[in-house]
Amino acid sequence: MNLYEAIGCRQSVRKYLRREVPEKLRSQILSYFAKASRLNDRIAVEAAILDNTKGQAQVRGPWKVDAPYYLAIYSEPEEGAARNAGYLMEQMILYLTAKGLGSCYLGGSHPAQKKKNGLQLIMLAAFGYPEGRLCRESPLARRLPLNELCIFREEAGEQMKTILRAARLAPSAFNSQPWRFIVYSDRIYVFARKSRLPGRAAQAMREFSIGVMLSHIMLAAEELWMELETATEEQYASKTYKNGDYVATLYLR
Ligand SMILES: Cc1cc2nc3c(=O)[nH]c(=O)nc-3n(C[C@H](O)[C@H](O)[C@H](O)COP(=O)(O)O)c2cc1C
Repeated sequence: MNLYEAIGCRQSVRKYLRREVPEKLRSQILSYFAKASRLNDRIAVEAAILDNTKGQAQVRGPWKVDAPYYLAIYSEPEEGAARNAGYLMEQMILYLTAKGLGSCYLGGSHPAQKKKNGLQLIMLAAFGYPEGRLCRESPLARRLPLNELCIFREEAGEQMKTILRAARLAPSAFNSQPWRFIVYSDRIYVFARKSRLPGRAAQAMREFSIGVMLSHIMLAAEELWMELETATEEQYASKTYKNGDYVATLYLR
C-alpha cells in the first residue's frame, strides 16, 4: 500500500492492542518525518513518539483515546504553522496506515510537556496496532458529497475528479470538512469555511484540517504524475467573504 492508497482506506482507530511497535519501525516513522513534504520549509518542526506501553505518557484532555503510542508534532509558532503541521502530519498518518498501524488525531489532548526544544505542541495522534479493522472501504467514510463541496464552473475531467475525491476523504476536527472548492478544468480555488466555534483553538483546528486536505491533493497529483502549482492570488486573498476565507489556487497540469 502506498500513501495514496492509504487515503482510501484510513479511518480513525480508537481501540488498540497492547502490542509493541518494533523499535526499528518507530525509528523509520521518525525518519519518514524528515523526508515528508512541507508547505513552508522555513517553519521549524519536530516530531516525537511518546511511548505509553506502560501508561507512562501522561496524555490528558477531552476526547482522548488510549493508545500504546502517541505521535506529537511541534512547531515554531509562525503564521501558517497549523496548516503546515496538518500537511506534514497527515503524510505521517498515511505512512502509519501503510505500515499496518492505526491512528487517531487528538486535537483536544496534550502530554505533560507541551514544548520541545523551544517548539510548541501543535497536534497529538494516538497510534498502534488496531484491535479491530485497520481499514474501511472508502464509500463508508461519512463525508459530504462532492456536489456539496464543489462548484463546478467547467467540466472536471477524470483526473480532476480523482484529486477531488482524495481531498473529500481527508479527516478533519469533528468531521467538520471545512473545505470548499470552485473547480475549473485545470485549477481549483480552495476556500475554508468559517468555524462555527469562536476562538484561536477552533481556528487552529480548521487550519490544521485544511493542511491535512492539501496533503491529500498533493499525494493524488503525485500518483497521477500531474504537476501541482500553488498560487496565492491577491485579488481573492485581500477580499473578505461572508462564509469563509480564500486558501489558495491550485493549478494542475
Ligand atoms: C484536527 C483534528 C482533530 C481531531 N481530534 C480528535 C479528538 O480529539 N478525538 C477523537 O476521537 N477524534 C479526533 N479527530 C478525528 C475526527 O473526529 C475524524 O477524523 C473524523 O470524524 C473523520 O472520521 P475518520 O477519521 O474515521 O475518517 C480529529 C481529527 C482532526 C483532523
